[in-house]
Amino acid sequence: MKNILNAQWIKSAKIVENGSVEFTRELNITKPVKAATLEATAYGVYEIEINGKRVGDYIFAPGWTSYQHRLQVETYDITSMLGEKNTIRVGVAGGWKTPNFFNGAKYHHSHLGVGETAIIAALEIEYTDGTSEIIYTDENWLCSKDKTVYSHIYNGYTYDATFIDDKPVPALPFPCYMDNLMDRVGEKITEHEHLPVKEIITTPKGETVLDFGQNMTGYVQFRIKGNKGEKAVIRHAEVLDAEGNFYNDNYRSAKAEAAFICDGEEHIFKPAYNFFGFRYIKLENWSDEVKAENFTAIVVHSDIKRTGYFECSDERINKLFSNIIWGQKGNFLDVPTDCPQRDERLGWTGDAQVFIKTASYNYDVEKFFIKWLGDLRADQTYWGAVPHVIPNTFRADDECSAAWADASTVCPWQIYQTYGNKQILEDSLKSMRDYLEYIEHHSWENIWAQGNHFGDWLNLDGSSPEDCSHGTDKDLIATAFFIYSSELYMKSCAVCGKEADTIPELRAKSIVAFRNKYMKDGRILPEYATQTACVLACHFGISDNIPETAKQLNELVTECGHLKTGFVGTPYLLHALSDNGYTKTAYDILLREEYPSWLFSVKMGATTIWEHWDSMREDGSMWSTSMNSFNHYAYGSVADWLYGDAAGIKIDESKPAFEHIIFAPVTDERLDYVKASIESRHGAVKAEWKRENGVVTYTFTVPEGCTATVVLNGKETEISAGEHRF
Ligand code: BGC
Repeated sequence: MKNILNAQWIKSAKIVENGSVEFTRELNITKPVKAATLEATAYGVYEIEINGKRVGDYIFAPGWTSYQHRLQVETYDITSMLGEKNTIRVGVAGGWKTPNFFNGAKYHHSHLGVGETAIIAALEIEYTDGTSEIIYTDENWLCSKDKTVYSHIYNGYTYDATFIDDKPVPALPFPCYMDNLMDRVGEKITEHEHLPVKEIITTPKGETVLDFGQNMTGYVQFRIKGNKGEKAVIRHAEVLDAEGNFYNDNYRSAKAEAAFICDGEEHIFKPAYNFFGFRYIKLENWSDEVKAENFTAIVVHSDIKRTGYFECSDERINKLFSNIIWGQKGNFLDVPTDCPQRDERLGWTGDAQVFIKTASYNYDVEKFFIKWLGDLRADQTYWGAVPHVIPNTFRADDECSAAWADASTVCPWQIYQTYGNKQILEDSLKSMRDYLEYIEHHSWENIWAQGNHFGDWLNLDGSSPEDCSHGTDKDLIATAFFIYSSELYMKSCAVCGKEADTIPELRAKSIVAFRNKYMKDGRILPEYATQTACVLACHFGISDNIPETAKQLNELVTECGHLKTGFVGTPYLLHALSDNGYTKTAYDILLREEYPSWLFSVKMGATTIWEHWDSMREDGSMWSTSMNSFNHYAYGSVADWLYGDAAGIKIDESKPAFEHIIFAPVTDERLDYVKASIESRHGAVKAEWKRENGVVTYTFTVPEGCTATVVLNGKETEISAGEHRF
């Protein structure tokens, strides 16, 4: 950021509620240009064109942050784009600033009117003769209504090819504070795969539906030539219903429509400001011939680099892994979202907390989380409460849910573990501490009691399927998470050379309180005994007799023959089993195909991870319309067990970023081979095992400058860089 602070914010003089506005500036250049840069940002999402050409490849800029505290500025090199006569055009639509975001929750931009957007920019031109000039946004810019006559994050867009606003007027100055402006810290959002139509379907109802074969997040580019004034509409869906008809009741109030008003000419069109979660599209009022080659689905997500790969001899697990990858792509769109399709798409803290370990192996998400955690800290309340969603669109101050708010400790710690980033711990210590103190103030005799918790969200212990948050006792979960988060805080303090102060004592007291209230002789008391309760007591090291608690967990799982865990227990379930000798049970659950299981959705043809274990039932009926996403990554957290246990690649906490690796794979007779690799900060870490003639051989690869301990059959062997066979 160099010049933008001297520019002035401008907004449209024309009120365009739910549409887009364009700001233009003509610019004549008379001398040879040596270099030209453009700094820009907006309230809303913008795209810039110079002389009709798109500047940069960043879509939905400036992304989504806690705007009142942090607004990202992008710097573009536009040297090669300028000529003698230039038109700079900045189009801007509501994006994440759209009014009525999430069930009518008010978005916090009271300083801008409903539906108003604004931009700020500075263009610096250096000439070869050594002189330079800077053009700022000001009243010399014109504004007009744009052809995107409607744009809403949930409802979609309407593009009117016939529309021309022939009366541009000067933009209005928009006095606004500037101290929230900062250089971009996260990743850009960019376009990725282009997917062709797999099948054109005429449904039993007679609808024309195009199947792209993959549930994804993005938009459809299409070729269209319709009669002037005709409105062609694309609707989006993730699944077809039991009869094979188009179905998107699960989008709730989100209309997710893409409408194009034709002008009689041929167009190849893709939208600028909207995205959808979908696998299928339905065409309505499409007078043009429907040909597969006229439609391409464009996948969009944050520009994160793929780092993790997993493969094994069971194709169903490989499909599950692919679904996890697609779940991450679909929900890593500037913030870690719960889902990309319905009227939500929010940065739910719990979902991110549950998935971050997997996420950080699959992709390089260091910058992505540095940005999001900055927003988390900015939105944390004075009292230390961590809002349910970041950026906080709810404004429900001082509400905190265990396992959701713990994103404030779990996420920085994981970013440190995977990438060795110490700074994120330094930056997060206060936030962690404030959160722990918030819990202290809401605890009674060292039990975090009566909080407003989501519990083991979507577990199967509740009295009815609709009862999403009951099952495992909420105070039990909350206290377990305090114990876990305070441990992460203490470790973070140790890394940063800081004192953890009163926290170790509070933690010790909470452990005693937990054991006294919920356990006896190493077992969770019958009235509290659920799989998740046992998982937490084992995995967070709370039990004073972990082998006994793990035995109880194994009994609970084998008695019913399947998992019953929700968001809280699922990420650690297989770990708690295999870490304590119940590897076969862990694999039984992993390889189970009937509901409830990970492979049930695979059997049902899923291409992403579902929100519920039975989002779609065996007969094709749906869990419900009220809360049923087919692209919710939370249960994809099982991938960290695939990397860490099935393949056996573990980080040594004391030497993070895979500087010292622990290879400890757990095999199962039902698999013939497993292989995984993670591109670490030091290079590729690889583990592979295969069974031939009843003998298992292992191969491990340690990157240059790193060391590893191989743990096989209870025997430890130290190895150094290179490939090693056992
Ligand atoms: C979201 C979840 C989220 C939850 C909170 C849901 O509507 O989609 O993934 O964590 O609410 O309980």
